[in-house]
Amino acid sequence: MRELDEHSITDEVLRRFEGCENPRLKQLLEGLVRHLHDFVREKAVTEDEWVYAIDFLTRTGKISDQSRQEFILLSDTLGVSTLVDAINNRAAPGATQSTVLGPFFVEAAPSAEQGADIDPGDKGGGAPLFVDVVVTDPVGKPVAGATVDIWHSDDEGFYDVQRDGGELARRARFVTDGEGRLRFRTTTPAAYPIPDDGPVGEMIKATGRHPWRPAHVHFMIAAPGFRRLVTHVFVDGDQYLDSDAVFGVKESLIDAFPFQPAGIAPDGTQQPKPYRLLRYRFGLTPA
Ligand code: BEZ
Ligand code: FE
Repeated sequence: MRELDEHSITDEVLRRFEGCENPRLKQLLEGLVRHLHDFVREKAVTEDEWVYAIDFLTRTGKISDQSRQEFILLSDTLGVSTLVDAINNRAAPGATQSTVLGPFFVEAAPSAEQGADIDPGDKGGGAPLFVDVVVTDPVGKPVAGATVDIWHSDDEGFYDVQRDGGELARRARFVTDGEGRLRFRTTTPAAYPIPDDGPVGEMIKATGRHPWRPAHVHFMIAAPGFRRLVTHVFVDGDQYLDSDAVFGVKESLIDAFPFQPAGIAPDGTQQPKPYRLLRYRFGLTPA
């Protein structure tokens, strides 16, 4: 083929993949070429626009490093992360829905004991938060010995890794007790903007979107015989629940985090100011 035009080019590119011996790779590349070509034709992409797109992706790569992954952020803000999650992690009836992992998970989180205060240094204005959750199978049978990673923002909407010094806080790895329960204390997180000083922020601003995520606590739960659950619990009443910048909200993952008056807290301590409670059941999907 020496005379390729705007229509015949697609079949010719697909023909070059005919010898691909990996069937899944072939299927993915054929789909990608078809959709990409259709997109260029349908939108009549100009040369300037294509140069801009390539520069955008180049800058997305260049700003990424060990602690910043702009491509994941791009996938998150285009809804692709939520789409891939939805297709691959369908919850069993009675099990908890999953949502996006996000960039602030730390593999080497400190282990903590039941009842620990994972934000002991907090002097801010956030309400103390007492968490009392249970991990079960889909029908409510407790799962003892499950590993539970927790992480969340502070009351100003920053993660520990975003603060100068990056000292780990408001994150821990726990193990559920014999009744599948986990109790700990922390500070109620605040809503926060996703990192918006790079190409993704440029896209957010250019399109009149906002970069905010509603306040939430992340949970990653693993136990033998069950699929790993990556999810959050969102604080009800947050103004960004209907417009999460990364499309992670699900109705079943919203909780009231009810306020309790000052007084004796669940851990037996005297609380001089009102505090909040998070009680939640996480149902795991069998592997
Ligand atoms: C997060 O919840 O930590 C998060 C998720 C996606 C993009 C940015 C942050
Ligand atoms: Fe988060």
